[in-house]
Amino acid sequence: MTATSASVPGTTTRTPAVAILRLLGGFQISQALYVAARAGVADELRAGPRPVGAVAEATGLRSDLLRRLLRTLTVERVFQYDEERDSVALGPLGHTLCSDTDESVRDVALMWMETHYRPFDRLWSTLHDGVPAAERELGKPFFDWLGEDADRVAGFSSAMGDMMRAIRRDAIDALDLSGVGHLVDIGGADGTGLATLAVRHPRLRGTVFDLPHVVRAAEGTLSRAGVADRVDTRGGDFFEAVPEGADAYLACFILHDWNDRKSTRVLERVHEAAAPGARLLLVETVLGRGPAPEIATMLDLTMMGMLDGRERTLEDWRSLLAGAGFRLDRIVETAGPMCVIEAVRVDR
Ligand SMILES: C[S@@+](CC[C@H](N)C(=O)[O-])C[C@H]1O[C@@H](n2cnc3c(N)ncnc32)[C@H](O)[C@@H]1O
Repeated sequence: MTATSASVPGTTTRTPAVAILRLLGGFQISQALYVAARAGVADELRAGPRPVGAVAEATGLRSDLLRRLLRTLTVERVFQYDEERDSVALGPLGHTLCSDTDESVRDVALMWMETHYRPFDRLWSTLHDGVPAAERELGKPFFDWLGEDADRVAGFSSAMGDMMRAIRRDAIDALDLSGVGHLVDIGGADGTGLATLAVRHPRLRGTVFDLPHVVRAAEGTLSRAGVADRVDTRGGDFFEAVPEGADAYLACFILHDWNDRKSTRVLERVHEAAAPGARLLLVETVLGRGPAPEIATMLDLTMMGMLDGRERTLEDWRSLLAGAGFRLDRIVETAGPMCVIEAVRVDR
């Protein structure tokens, strides 16, 4: 057997050339998934299989082309296209493209393809000069661009809500809030995370803290969850100051957005605001840990292209925290891709 015809580990029937072509063609699959998500194809199939013509009519897509899209996404296990009956059903992954299912990532599909896809065309220059591809494409840092348009903010927050339910639930479940009276969620977006925690811990008080134009949406989330009497919202900039005096601070999926210098600034603001002995809980990936390392490495690319952040190893986390006056106590691995990093504020 020659090197070129040898099978690739994990894809036993694929030659290296076929395996790499599949990866190289990923951009087309991303777009196909986006079309299906945006048109609501999966939602049309929630009740069971339907003729392709009926799905085309309901979604406004051309039936001849939709049929070909569905055939491709059947190979990817998203749909199940039945050639004989010319009908289609959800495949094993299909429910993730429905709106409002527990594992839905439909809003991630929309957000990634509408905000992240184009910037990644410029990854080449990022690898040469370190300027995030998004900053070059959008003409300004990603979060500045995002904040200019209310629809963009809403789309991003919905996608973060999806991420919270889909890949961070295990870490949220693993958070140890024993002895915590007041929890501040730093960069808490639309309040989905803190609302979940407050429902689960009936005596917990909390504050969702995020940029003013983002945190506005949290009021609705908290009311709908029935916790608005115990959880309030505060708008601000975590590089300047964060709410004072809480027993614990949660930063879920925040510090990976920023390089070490900026992450240290955020942590220093938390250090100033927190009482001695206050706890800091980070929900982040830890490179090389957990059951889905491919999510951490992919997110590392996302951080490189969109922001100037990064995913970190255990030692990276330990030294970042130590540099801002926190002692890393333990890492809790979960069944999902994210870990809980527990730290405590120490005097500097
Ligand atoms: C990756 S999202 C994570 C949201 C949420 N914690 C979650 O896990 O879904 C990062 C959050 O940081 C917020 N953010 C960015 N810059 C900020 C700043 N300077 N001050 C406060 N929040 C900021 C964003 O608005 C966004 O909600």
